[in-house]
Amino acid sequence: MKFTLNKKDKKTAARRGTLVTPHGTIETPIFMPVGTHAAMKAMTPVQVKETGAQIILSNTYHLHLRPGEELVAKAGGLHSFMAWDGPILTDSGGFQVFSLPNKRITEEGAYFKHEVSGEEVFLDPARAIAIQEALGADIIMAFDECIPYPCDRKYAAKSTRKTLRWAEQCKKAQTRKDQALFGIVQGSVFEDLRAMCAKELVQMDFPGYAIGGVSVGEGLDLLKKVVEYTAPYLPENKPRYLMGVGLPEDILESVERGMDMFDCVIPTRYARSATLFTNRGKIRLTNRKYRRDFYPIEPNCTCYACRNFTRAYIHHLFNANEVLSAILASIHNVHFYLNMMAEIRRAIEEGRFADYKREFLESYLKGA
Ligand code: GUN
Ligand code: ZN
Repeated sequence: MKFTLNKKDKKTAARRGTLVTPHGTIETPIFMPVGTHAAMKAMTPVQVKETGAQIILSNTYHLHLRPGEELVAKAGGLHSFMAWDGPILTDSGGFQVFSLPNKRITEEGAYFKHEVSGEEVFLDPARAIAIQEALGADIIMAFDECIPYPCDRKYAAKSTRKTLRWAEQCKKAQTRKDQALFGIVQGSVFEDLRAMCAKELVQMDFPGYAIGGVSVGEGLDLLKKVVEYTAPYLPENKPRYLMGVGLPEDILESVERGMDMFDCVIPTRYARSATLFTNRGKIRLTNRKYRRDFYPIEPNCTCYACRNFTRAYIHHLFNANEVLSAILASIHNVHFYLNMMAEIRRAIEEGRFADYKREFLESYLKGA
């Protein structure tokens, strides 16, 4: 994997980069749609590609439980199993495990109950890496503890030091050299812990770095602060991934502070509950006012849903509980996110990122 920094914004920390992986090239800043169970919900890989997606994310935790990494490996790996030939990133399970109700975390790893069979499962750094190697993604993530928010300093410090020991163990466990293993910065909202964690990870020399433990209920102001004081510790010539973020405004604020990669279930999850993104904010398509609205979801949008269907029609699909409602809404929302990222990249290239951000937010936050 090779990352090239093509351009740095003069007024902000925003960056324009190119990331070359074994399954293709990614232009950054980029958003990664989420396909937790080796599938984007309500979208075929062809539809995902048509929205402009360059890389998708999948989950170690879910695929380990079902169908199991051995089966995926037998199918020829994740790319072949799910018929997505572009780049894939797998998350380590460090986040999913820690959001479970009945887990037990020790120095060694995490014990939890199998959601389907009920038996006890154990995940640790070595196993998280072995599973991700069997799945075969282009980018894999270190096994970490995502600290809940709020959290006292003492627990945060202890947990962050454990995440660092686990990062070292992940590095040692790695045998495949064709996968890029990213380290994850934890430290909750404590500036010194974030700094310490980032410095230690940089010492270990990962090909890329993520900021984790955000979007856990801390709010946009704290998210901005965490990114602002953490990103400067990360090397300029390596990709920086902000995990689980977020809404369009969260992404814009974080690009401005130097982040390159994002992932979130919001565009697809919101789509399935009829919440659609537009340049004038979010709209709820089940609202009665769209019953006779014969305009597209977004008049200027070039996605398949907007080129062919009206709000009235998709409103009807939601009311009638038709599966096509989720498909069309997901296509539009993912396209909206990826189009925003393309506009962000162009704005950085043309030296007008701050203006772009201001204009986007002016229209988006004012509402329809
Ligand atoms: N996804 C969102 N946040 C996190 C995090 O802190 N760690 C991991 N592994 N995945 C995440
Ligand atoms: Zn559209």
